[in-house]
Amino acid sequence: MLVSKLPSVGTTIFTRMSQLAAEVGALNLSQGFPDFPSPQPLLDAAVRHLQAGHNQYAPMTGLPRLREAVATKVAALYGRSVSADTEVTIVPGATEAIFCAVQALIRAGDEAIVLDPCYDSYEPAVELAGGRCVHVPLNLPDFSVDWQRLSDAINERTRLIFINSPHNPSGALLSRADLDQLAALIRDRDIYLISDEVYEHLVFDGASHASVLAHDELYARAFVVSSFGKTYHVTGWKTGYVVAPPALTAELRKVHQFVTFVAVTPLQHALADFMVEHPEHIAELPAFYQAKRDLFCDQLAGSRFAFTRTPGTYFQIVDYSAIRPDLDDVAMAEWLTREQGVAAIPVSVFYQQPPAGMRLVRFCFAKREETLLAAGAKLCAI
Ligand SMILES: Cc1ncc(COP(=O)(O)O)c(C=O)c1O
Repeated sequence: MLVSKLPSVGTTIFTRMSQLAAEVGALNLSQGFPDFPSPQPLLDAAVRHLQAGHNQYAPMTGLPRLREAVATKVAALYGRSVSADTEVTIVPGATEAIFCAVQALIRAGDEAIVLDPCYDSYEPAVELAGGRCVHVPLNLPDFSVDWQRLSDAINERTRLIFINSPHNPSGALLSRADLDQLAALIRDRDIYLISDEVYEHLVFDGASHASVLAHDELYARAFVVSSFGKTYHVTGWKTGYVVAPPALTAELRKVHQFVTFVAVTPLQHALADFMVEHPEHIAELPAFYQAKRDLFCDQLAGSRFAFTRTPGTYFQIVDYSAIRPDLDDVAMAEWLTREQGVAAIPVSVFYQQPPAGMRLVRFCFAKREETLLAAGAKLCAI
């Protein structure tokens, strides 16, 4: 009998809720992906490069011109000059990058700190590397960092801390002051960072994203991960990138080389074209998603759900205590999907130990206006 190396891992809630939504014909506001088309010039570019025969392996580190486009963006947005050759790696999705960075860092017996609630790929990656995750809950209700608890969790075995801003599932943002606090905490220790910034452009109400790329001290020990899938409405392309100092990049690439070796060639060409030809896409993204957030939240304002408008990401968390306090959030997400026709994700699944009595679900508003209006109408009728 094969003994599982990941005994507590099953099919993820995202897959289960999307399947259930399809089965019962519910509007799928659960899993995080757009239901609107990807930019036409990006699709045209992909077709063009497929037809042009760009269908063999790309360089292991990524197409040079896509790495250059990322380096140009990093300089423009975060004021850091990075080498496209030694600090930027194109990967098949942020999840692969996170996995590779963890394998490069974690040895048996090492600890990695995650801030709960957190994205579900972090812990399995650490466990497969022989390490252990230490879970530090974020403060409720604003999902800010509890610095004392984080400090208490750090010890001689701590090798890695994961941060994620804008934060899935809450949308909370880390500020520059937060990054300074973190830097002070790990200053004299051999601790590295994975900074998951896949929602870097989804920041609202005039706020700006405090990237680790703009923080000299943290960048020196960080893998900063982003996802073209989120930024260009092509989650199914599973293409992303990592920016890290040369020594860290070298170790990341040693793992990446033997996990997937490369990201998909024609898609890299298409993304490089689009980044160069359509710089306005990124500039317009905050307003684009803020309008969706506001459309959805304006609808929800007429419902019995309680919420604060999310400051980032394309997720909105709502409290349903006034509606079905008898249901835990997994049961609530199922009830919403089966009985009310709107699929959601329970927030407890992002925790090792969910706070007792938490009554929160997450909706994704990366959807067409009709979808958001239809979902809003259903949610208001509850
Ligand atoms: C916080 C976070 N990190 C990473 C990812 C994965 O991104 P990718 O699809 O590029 O692997 C997601 C996707 O949902 C996410 O929400």
